[in-house]
Amino acid sequence: MLAAGMREFGGPVELLDLPEPAGPGSAEVVIDVSAAGVGNWDDIVRSGGWDVGLTPPMALGVEVAGTVVAVGSNVTGFRPGDEVLGHPLPLRHQGCWAERVVVDAGLVVPKPPGVPWETAAAFPVPALTAEQALSESLRVAGNETLLVHGAGGATGGLAVRLAALRGARVIATAGSASADRVGRAGAVEVLDYRDRTWPERIREWTGGAGVDSALNAVPGGSADTVRAVREGGRLATITGDRRPAGSGVSFADVYVRPDSAQLTKLSALLGEGKLSLPVGVTLPLAEAAAALERAVRGANGGPVVLLTGRRPSNP
Ligand SMILES: NC(=O)c1ccc[n+]([C@@H]2O[C@H](COP(=O)([O-])OP(=O)(O)OC[C@H]3O[C@@H](n4cnc5c(N)ncnc54)[C@H](OP(=O)(O)O)[C@@H]3O)[C@@H](O)[C@H]2O)c1
Repeated sequence: MLAAGMREFGGPVELLDLPEPAGPGSAEVVIDVSAAGVGNWDDIVRSGGWDVGLTPPMALGVEVAGTVVAVGSNVTGFRPGDEVLGHPLPLRHQGCWAERVVVDAGLVVPKPPGVPWETAAAFPVPALTAEQALSESLRVAGNETLLVHGAGGATGGLAVRLAALRGARVIATAGSASADRVGRAGAVEVLDYRDRTWPERIREWTGGAGVDSALNAVPGGSADTVRAVREGGRLATITGDRRPAGSGVSFADVYVRPDSAQLTKLSALLGEGKLSLPVGVTLPLAEAAAALERAVRGANGGPVVLLTGRRPSNP
């Protein structure tokens, strides 16, 4: 089967002809892949910096949307023909940039009807990251003020929406092209991050006190973000930034993990239209190398998605 990945850690992304998966194990399903998400995190996998459970030669890709074609003997939740999405780590047979994958049935959830394949494929990692940062690291409460730095991106935008849905007062930074979208997601104030005084302006906006908590989604952005947080407040970053020195603010470095209960709820919100994720570009599996380059450069306009050409028509 056709797949895209690398022959060795650090090697270039290329098309691979990999063996078809054997039948599923008792707790696994085989998925006919329609679309697979591409993020700059895939480049960390390519270079060997994130262990996703396989060694090369291997297909990359940690987000999948597709149709179940076979189920293991102990799987009760899915049948062939079911449409699913997921962040199925650790990878079992191959990564998701492939025509078919075998995954733990507990790590995929139903794809809501009406959600396009490309949206479903780009959704799991940013949605889970945003949810885990807000609910577990920052414990954002409904009556609090939250700053999202980098809300123009996929994860930041979903964090704005999820926090607004739980009643928080959300302030965000975004570029001019994304500001309206971030406002529609629920930010009451959107500041242009190109104005370097934005942390001070947020302090002024909060009467000098600073926000209760902040989520940083910009690589290297934690040092700026912490300047807008009140004494005793909370900062979480999803970028691997170091804890900013000398602040009286709690700090969390968030790494996404699969969680099917969370993903089920998030997918339901996506299906109901309470969450949205505009996809920036779709490319065929054969252009995986270009897709990854684009994601690494910064996916202005939305996430990058690979299509296998095997998808049933979009709803
Ligand atoms: N730790 C984890 O588990 C985890 C999970 C997911 C993502 N991440 C990381 O989180 C970061 C964001 O990921 P993503 O997929 O959400 O990103 P993305 O969709 O690629 O976001 C890119 C957007 O960030 C905005 N941006 C760029 N430079 C900025 C700056 N200096 N200040 C404010 N905004 C800026 C731009 O939006 P505008 O349109 O507003 O200019 C750009 O479109 C990446 O570094 C990614 O690797 C980590």
